Amino acid sequence: MKIDGKPYRTIWLEEDGRTVRIIDQTKLPFRFETLALRSLEDAARAIEIMQVRGAPCIGATAAYGVAVALAEDASDEGLEKAVARLGRTRPTAVNLRWALEEMAAAVRNRPRAERVAAAYARAAEICDEDVEICRRIGEHGAKLIEAAARRKGAGKGEGRVNVLTHCNAGWLATVDWGTALAPIYMAHDAGIPVHVWVDETRPRNQGASLTAYELGGHGVPHTIVVDNAGGHLMQHGEVDLCIVGTDRTTRTGDVANKIGTYLKALAAHDNGVPFYVALPHTTIDWRLRDGVREIPIEERAQEEVTRLTGLDEGGALRTVTVTAPGSAAANYAFDVTPARLVTGLVTERGVAEASEEGLLRLYPERRDG
Ligand code: MRU
Repeated sequence: MKIDGKPYRTIWLEEDGRTVRIIDQTKLPFRFETLALRSLEDAARAIEIMQVRGAPCIGATAAYGVAVALAEDASDEGLEKAVARLGRTRPTAVNLRWALEEMAAAVRNRPRAERVAAAYARAAEICDEDVEICRRIGEHGAKLIEAAARRKGAGKGEGRVNVLTHCNAGWLATVDWGTALAPIYMAHDAGIPVHVWVDETRPRNQGASLTAYELGGHGVPHTIVVDNAGGHLMQHGEVDLCIVGTDRTTRTGDVANKIGTYLKALAAHDNGVPFYVALPHTTIDWRLRDGVREIPIEERAQEEVTRLTGLDEGGALRTVTVTAPGSAAANYAFDVTPARLVTGLVTERGVAEASEEGLLRLYPERRDG
C-alpha cells in the first residue's frame, strides 16, 4: 500500500541483499520510521516488542530472521538457535511456527554453502505468497461487502455499508493488503460506499493508531469507537457486518484474535449481524481442535494497561499513567471466539463455513491431518 504516494510493504530486503528493513509500528501513527534488522536478535526483538505485529507479518519477519541468522552462522546449531529464539518471541500467532518450519525445511538438508541464499530466497517467497494470498482474501471478502451494499441499496442515493473491525488486520499486519481490511480496500476501490467502525483496541490501541492510520491513508471513511461501543452500534442497526483477523484458527473453526473479539462476536450473534473472520491458510492450526482449551494466550506486561503513550499539545510523544497507582493489571492479549459465533471464514480459496468440514472442503489436502 502507499504512504504519501510511495508504495510500501511492511518488510523488505535492501539492495545489499542481506539487510532486512521493516516499518517500526511502535512509532505509528505519529512518526513513520523504518528500521534495519541485521541480526537474529534484531529480528526476535522486533517481534517481541511489536515493532512488527499481526500474525502474517510476524511470520514474514521470523522467516527473514532465520535468513539473517544463517548469514551469521549457517551451521546446524545456528539454525537450531535461530528457530528456538524466534519461536519464543510470541506464543499465539501460529504463522510464526509455520514460517519457522518452512524455513527449516528449506535449508536443513542443504550444504552450508547454499543455506544462506536458500533462506533468503524462501523468505522472499513467503512474503510474495502472503501478498498474493491477502489479495485473494480481499477479492472474496469484497463480494460480502458488495452483497451487503446491494441488500441495503447503498450507493444508489443514500446509504453506506458499515463494517466493524477490531484490532489491526490491515496491510501493516501482513506483508501487504491485510486480511480483514483487504476486502474493505477492494470494495472502496470498486466504488462501494463503505464506512468502517474502528474499535480502538486497548491496551495497545492497534485500531485507533494503526487501522485508522491505514484507512485514512487510503481514503476510506472510518470512525474510531471505544471498544465497548460495538454492542450499542449493533443494537441500533449501525453495523452491517463485522470482519476481523485471527492469530490462530483451529481445524474446527475456533478463532483466536485480539482480546475483545469474542465479546464483539457475542454482540453480533445477539443482534443478527454477520461476523466474518479473514485469514490465510498459514493461520490455520490443523493440529488443534478446541480453541478455548488449546490455543496458548499471550499475557503481556501490565504496563501496557497502566500506561498510555500519545502526543502532547506541543507535539512531543509522552507516556502517562492512566490507572490507580499500586493497582495490579492483567494483560491478556488474545481471546478465543468459538466457531458457532463465526458466520464464515474468508480465506484465499473462498469463504468457508467455520467448521472442520467447511475448512476441509476448501483444503481437502488436510483431511488426513
Ligand atoms: O498483538 P497483535 O497486534 O500482533 O495482534 C494482531 C491481531 O490480533 C490481528 O487481528 C491478527 O494478527 C490478524 S492480522 C492479519
